[in-house]
Amino acid sequence: MKITVFNGSPQAENSNTNVMVEAFLEGARKGGAKTENIFLTHKKIHPCVACYCCWLKTPGKCAIQDDMAELLQKCYASDLVIFATPLYVDNVTGIMKHFMDRTIPAAEPFFEKDVGGECRHKITSKVPKIMVISNGGFPEQSHFQVLKLLFRRIARNMGTELIAEIYRGGGAILTTKSSLLWLPLRRYRALLVKAGEGVVKDGKISDGLQRELEKPIIPESRYIKGAEIYFRKALKKITR
Ligand SMILES: Cc1cc2nc3c(=O)[nH]c(=O)nc-3n(C[C@H](O)[C@H](O)[C@H](O)COP(=O)(O)O)c2cc1C
Repeated sequence: MKITVFNGSPQAENSNTNVMVEAFLEGARKGGAKTENIFLTHKKIHPCVACYCCWLKTPGKCAIQDDMAELLQKCYASDLVIFATPLYVDNVTGIMKHFMDRTIPAAEPFFEKDVGGECRHKITSKVPKIMVISNGGFPEQSHFQVLKLLFRRIARNMGTELIAEIYRGGGAILTTKSSLLWLPLRRYRALLVKAGEGVVKDGKISDGLQRELEKPIIPESRYIKGAEIYFRKALKKITR
């Protein structure tokens, strides 16, 4: 099984999203998968300009010369693609959205009805199964409502399956080095490793593990207090 992660955090290797991704991929490799973790911010990805060359003039090939052609090939060659993104204004990051827009060469202009009776563009390329990994700064899991719907829609439009979702509210502490958080972060990381192994072996995350993954890493009140202290200290440093 080949798993490719497209990581949309501008913080790339140092991101909270990447902490989640790396632990998940560790588990996936234990399960026997081959993995690749790609940081979109290190790639040249221009916005789609809606010229429709990829549908009309050079079917399947975008007119823009950048890294997207290579990334699309990696996408098609994967069994599972993971969209990894921090939550930005309740949505994916800008670079992730550019990446997503630029996947339209995988389709044709012609409409077809899907099994639910809704129109979509006919897909001409081999589309892998998909998964989401995301973290946000607010503590509640409810902030991922938009992403939950978005990735269901994307799977439907692309005629593929959304096999797993890992959303982490209160995720801004994942890169924290504080010894006070060492144990809860280690516990959460272990759950992610298990999830990676489970997805490769069983094609999904078990209900029990999903429930564990959704639990707060630390109590909400402690997280909110920590955020307040962090931002007050940061402000003081700047205004000093
Ligand atoms: C432009 C911007 C918008 C953000 N919007 C949200 C948001 O809507 N909801 C949320 O919970 N966190 C939001 N955050 C906080 C990030 O999701 C949070 O800091 C996260 O841990 C960053 O992940 P990363 O380290 O993987 O980039 C936002 C941060 C930025 C910079």
